[in-house]
Amino acid sequence: AVRKREVWSGRSVFILAAIGSAVGLGNIWRFPYIAYENGGGAFIVPYLVALLTAGIPLLFVDYAIGHKFRGSPPLAFHRLKRATESLGWWQVGICFVIGVYYAVIIAWALRYTFFSATQAWGDDAETFFLQDFLQMNADATFGLDFVPGVAWPLLGIWLVVLVILGLGVQRGIGAANRFFVPLLLVLFAGMVVRALTLDGAATGLDAFFRPDWSALTDTGVWISAYAQIFFSLSVAFGIMVTYSSYLKHRTNLTGSGLVVGFSNSSFEILAGIGVFSALGFMAQAQGVAVDEVVSGGIGLAFIAFPTIVSEMPGGSLFGLLFFGSLVFAGFTSLISIIQVCVSAVEDKTGLTRVPAVLIVGGVASVTSLLLFPTTTGLNTLDVVDRFANQFGIVGVAFATLVVLAWGLRRLPELQDHLNSVSSFRVGLLWRVFAGVLTPIVLGYMLISEIVDRSREGYNDLPDALVMTFGWGVQALVIVIAVALSFAPWGLTDAELAHTES
Ligand code: PHE
Ligand code: NA
Repeated sequence: AVRKREVWSGRSVFILAAIGSAVGLGNIWRFPYIAYENGGGAFIVPYLVALLTAGIPLLFVDYAIGHKFRGSPPLAFHRLKRATESLGWWQVGICFVIGVYYAVIIAWALRYTFFSATQAWGDDAETFFLQDFLQMNADATFGLDFVPGVAWPLLGIWLVVLVILGLGVQRGIGAANRFFVPLLLVLFAGMVVRALTLDGAATGLDAFFRPDWSALTDTGVWISAYAQIFFSLSVAFGIMVTYSSYLKHRTNLTGSGLVVGFSNSSFEILAGIGVFSALGFMAQAQGVAVDEVVSGGIGLAFIAFPTIVSEMPGGSLFGLLFFGSLVFAGFTSLISIIQVCVSAVEDKTGLTRVPAVLIVGGVASVTSLLLFPTTTGLNTLDVVDRFANQFGIVGVAFATLVVLAWGLRRLPELQDHLNSVSSFRVGLLWRVFAGVLTPIVLGYMLISEIVDRSREGYNDLPDALVMTFGWGVQALVIVIAVALSFAPWGLTDAELAHTES
């Protein structure tokens, strides 16, 4: 008997889950900073171009593969053409690597949600974060000195994720997104509204939106726009392939993709407004220019925002809204990344969901708990993150598109599939964007990253760390991916060949 694949109850729950996956930490802490650094208001031009010529076209590619071949990446690619199965495993491997450290950041944010109540960081948020909270040991490269204040919430995050995945696609993932995505919107909108009413908000917004048109002639700005879009929409590393494999046969794929793509970008712009209003307030409170307080990533979330919370009246509630948003935004993304791995194990082994969740969850949570909630975890996380994003995601996306468009020339077939079910039709332009323009941009990004990291290392971190957790981890992912593609399937040949059910 052919195993029945789980299904979403309808298109809206799929769209919600896809938005939940796309809207993550990157929207909140990465976009505002990237936009500011790359032309401010003028960044909207390269950003929209990247969204329309790469983000949305690749979203369509993922949907077409997942929906037509109805499988996790290894199964979908195996069905597309046997020899490409390893591409699917490479995508799964990247999801696994991202998942194990992404959970850690959510655990930090969870702790900080509670810290907000008492503003536990006092008047020096940086010292508190690095020394009191992370207990960072700057002298050691790598070690296993655990920090319980990070390890416990991390364990909690893993348990909740695994319970949700264990409940299945509709009852677990669908239900969680129905709850978390609206909640995130409410919390985040509350945060933005409060930020807009702060003294100095206008100065912050002015700094954010002030256009520097000369940025448009800078290649680096364009590359940053494409990088932001790839990361933000999480395209071409298996997530959307997996989620769309659970769609019913007749589903408007491109229409859904447009909704997801524009929702994600709207959330980013909202985040830019909230973050820069708050930074404007901080600059004013400290009597400095906005430029001096701008940061992105971990520094923005765990140092600048706690400082803002301390400086403003009623800051605790603001902190709660901000860190609560980080937790929920990150959580729905984490669910999607780990589901890619669970789904791949189910498909390859023929195991049912619960054992697959236990296997994947066991390996992922132990890895995550061993490597990161330690006194050396911050630098390890930094390296793994950099290489997963700038090398792993970019590399697998490049390889996948080149194989699909050039090696196998399968874009026309995917185009037919999209058009057979969708409202918004795609044609030559889509094939050019997905098959020519995007691979060129990705190839350029990949090569410049390889050259830069080989020459400069990363962030002045010890070479041993960069070799092991940067290059080493990425190489290991590829080796394991190839090996797994040779392992036998737990499905019958009929099941393996089955598509478009
Ligand atoms: N797209 C998410 C963001 O913008 C991040 C993410 C990364 C989600 C990896 C899933 C997987 O933050
Ligand atoms: Na995003």
